[in-house]
Amino acid sequence: METNPAVCGKDCASCPYEIPEDLRMAAVCSEKKETACSSCPSYPCDTIRECALTGQATAYVHELFNGNAGGHDVQHTLRVYRNAMQIAAQEPGCDRLTVMLAALLHDADDHKLFATKNNENARRFLADQVSLEQMEEICACINSVSFSQNKGRKPASLEGMIVQDADRLDAMGAIGIARAFAFGGEHGRPLHETVRHFDEKLLLLRDLMNTEPAKRIAAERHAFMEAFLEQLKKETGSSGSI
Ligand code: ADP
Ligand code: NI
Repeated sequence: METNPAVCGKDCASCPYEIPEDLRMAAVCSEKKETACSSCPSYPCDTIRECALTGQATAYVHELFNGNAGGHDVQHTLRVYRNAMQIAAQEPGCDRLTVMLAALLHDADDHKLFATKNNENARRFLADQVSLEQMEEICACINSVSFSQNKGRKPASLEGMIVQDADRLDAMGAIGIARAFAFGGEHGRPLHETVRHFDEKLLLLRDLMNTEPAKRIAAERHAFMEAFLEQLKKETGSSGSI
């Protein structure tokens, strides 16, 4: 009897999904996953199919960023993915698979990192994994996330709203502060210039959230940034020259 302990631990012979031997894993299986697998980056996944796709997409994104972008922002992608799944858990009307893959691939064709067109990197992964229709849906979702590409328009779909919120949350709170100063450092900017970025962008994000779960997380992160700025002022004086 062939089993697949790495993924579902069940007898493959009784698996209702018709899949080739070497892919006889989670790829098409959609049973509820009951146990954690230690290698899964996102446990708890809802289904075995989710678990497998997450693993494959995460591996793809790692390779993509490490190969083409010197590892730049792969951790950001993973945080956005976790944010998105946290929001999705409270938005039962959303298509989880679209949210999941759009979040993991949302920067796969970021023009700052890659010189691709028409979601080429995202499509390379998706073509083997989802239907054509779902691939288009996911790419539309990814393209609706970027503020500049959409001239400030809200994403049309719930999935787009979730991924956009998830991306923006990563620019807020403790992680947002860390990223802002890291960005400033990379660009050789003095501290006070990065402090300006809070007024220009970071303190505006709370009121731009689309979904209720994200609004709640954003409120906490916003308060933390305000407390940070307050403390900074206390330590350095209010003249703005730190
Ligand atoms: P995204 O990942 O959404 O495309 P950006 O590439 O614009 O965002 O920014 C990446 C990170 O760098 C974010 O955390 C953002 O707040 C920060 N950042 C962008 N511009 C500045 C700036 N002028 N000063 C400080 N931080 C910045
Ligand atoms: Ni992003």
